[in-house]
Amino acid sequence: MAIPPEFLEELKLRLPATDVVGRRVKLVRSGRDTKGCCPFHKEKTPSFHVYEDHYHCFGCGVHGSIIDFVMETEGLEFREAVARLAGEAGMPMPEETPEERQRQARNRSLAEVVEMAAAFFEKCLRMPEGRAALDYLRGRGLTEETIKRFRLGFSPDGRGKLKAMLAAEGIEESAMVAAGLLVQPEDRNRDPYDRFRGRVMFPITDRQGRVIAFGARLLAGDGPKYLNSPETSLFHKGRNLYGLAQAKEAVREHGSIVVCEGYTDVIALAQAGIGQAVAPLGTALTEEQIALLWKLAPEPILCFDGDAAGQRAAARAAERALPLLKAGFGLRFAMLPPGEDPDSLVQGKGRAAFDEVLEGATALSELIWRVESGGSLPSSPEGRADLNKRLDQKLRDIPDPTVRRYFQDFFKTRLWPDGPAGRGGQSGRGDFRGKGKFGGNNWAGPSQRLRADSPDIRPVESDRLRAAILLATAINHPDLLAEVEEDLGRIAVADANLDNLRQALLITHAGGLPLDTEGLVNHLSEQGYSQALSQLLSARTYDHARFARPNAGLAEARRGWEATINHLRGEDLESELQAAQDAVRRDPSDENMNWVVRVRRMMDESEQIAAGFE
Ligand code: UTP
Ligand code: MN
Repeated sequence: MAIPPEFLEELKLRLPATDVVGRRVKLVRSGRDTKGCCPFHKEKTPSFHVYEDHYHCFGCGVHGSIIDFVMETEGLEFREAVARLAGEAGMPMPEETPEERQRQARNRSLAEVVEMAAAFFEKCLRMPEGRAALDYLRGRGLTEETIKRFRLGFSPDGRGKLKAMLAAEGIEESAMVAAGLLVQPEDRNRDPYDRFRGRVMFPITDRQGRVIAFGARLLAGDGPKYLNSPETSLFHKGRNLYGLAQAKEAVREHGSIVVCEGYTDVIALAQAGIGQAVAPLGTALTEEQIALLWKLAPEPILCFDGDAAGQRAAARAAERALPLLKAGFGLRFAMLPPGEDPDSLVQGKGRAAFDEVLEGATALSELIWRVESGGSLPSSPEGRADLNKRLDQKLRDIPDPTVRRYFQDFFKTRLWPDGPAGRGGQSGRGDFRGKGKFGGNNWAGPSQRLRADSPDIRPVESDRLRAAILLATAINHPDLLAEVEEDLGRIAVADANLDNLRQALLITHAGGLPLDTEGLVNHLSEQGYSQALSQLLSARTYDHARFARPNAGLAEARRGWEATINHLRGEDLESELQAAQDAVRRDPSDENMNWVVRVRRMMDESEQIAAGFE
């Protein structure tokens, strides 16, 4: 298998990436850059950059060599891709060793045997003996088209039906055993027999759609519900994903991938129009599978049952992912209603119900926070310190420094929504009492004007107005406050007085008292913010933002909130993008590239949100 590295180097020298990629993607030159619209995710403005010897998409993060490109776009194995390119470059492929040739021939013939079995099972589903299985599949709501697309089948009862069919085709028994189709009894004197009997058959394929193994579901009687092929030289269950061949196109189209637990989930989702679903093969998601998922989408969504067992499974998956994290890649966790799986949900409540579950998916950082904190912030300092310690432990599992810093900041804002000690005053609820010296002149006080006047600082006036609008909106719409708590915890408010009020509002909210606007205002006034509030909740604010008014509807307030937040974020992101791009120009290291990818993704996200209400 091994192709000498010199050969690959020579190949890459002879075929510039711009040529190989340029045949599939329309590339344009701008300055020193050659770029086009990324073929691996949906986009309108080109962020897919092609260099002499590799490509890199600053939109979705994919990158690779010409060999990767041919593998990805044409669905070829490594060696096949090299052979294709070598042909183009006029380089004869290096000789294979006799062992390599033998191993390949053997795998080729094993693949043929497995394919014959798949065709046999499909045929049996259509025979009288497969009637019950076919009825079962139809009873589960599967259409003819779906049954064909996933090549579902039936393995007849009896210990030697498949074996007899394959023997009649001249296949050796040893090959049937090696393909995982027959079981060889411990006692070698006894004959091997059919592994799958009286079961609904789900062929498991590789990425190219070649059958490599089977999952088999019990129809009636006793036994394990699902039986899978054993590991063979074709089938490594930790390395493949069920349904990937069928999902590939939808994954590319949507730029996202959904991981559920069962074969029937993948199939039901595909039939419901959610084609980008895959499943692990009877085990928990492995590291290799996570790495494979990240090649396909930057932020795969894992689905779990909403019951206690599902929560535990999600927590375990999250913990396993921490050591693998790298900048630009993440996971999201979608929790289903308790007792439902994706199959039952789309069959029972339709596609929209599942889309809603996906939209509510939680980021990995948030999930870890929820698991460790149990969903609420401990009120005692000891409780918080203890939680802090546990979170630190989790941080230690993240080897990537950029990601670790991000998680660290995230946990910090969650742990100390009132700001860490030393910044914006001492932390702690009581400290806010009496601190709010918000005189009328303090509101746009001398320190403010000073800052706005100094040339190298962006005028803070408009930012301050936006912050005021956000705070007024949150206070006037307490229902919205719960939704936007995270936003509110993240925004940087330059005006110290406003920022204190922001923190006090967060703490009040975290206190869990179900307060209406009046309650909030009273509570905050008691802490010395009454003057600040009367400045804030006034025509001065409302003239700029109708949606902040108390009589605006919740939906209006929500849209206004998002627009304002986006504006704040958008300006910051523009300048961060500039900085990141400059850094790449100076030093195109992975870290700098990933920085650009991250900022781009955040910009895309804000754009999508903005597009949502125009
Ligand atoms: P589930 O028990 O959730 O089954 O197992 P399911 O996929 O929803 O199937 P239906 O709807 O009852 O037909 C989830 C996955 O776990 C593996 C299989 O991969 C299955 O799809 N599994 C389950 C096994 O490998 N063996 C078992 O005995 C059970
Ligand atoms: Mn199910």
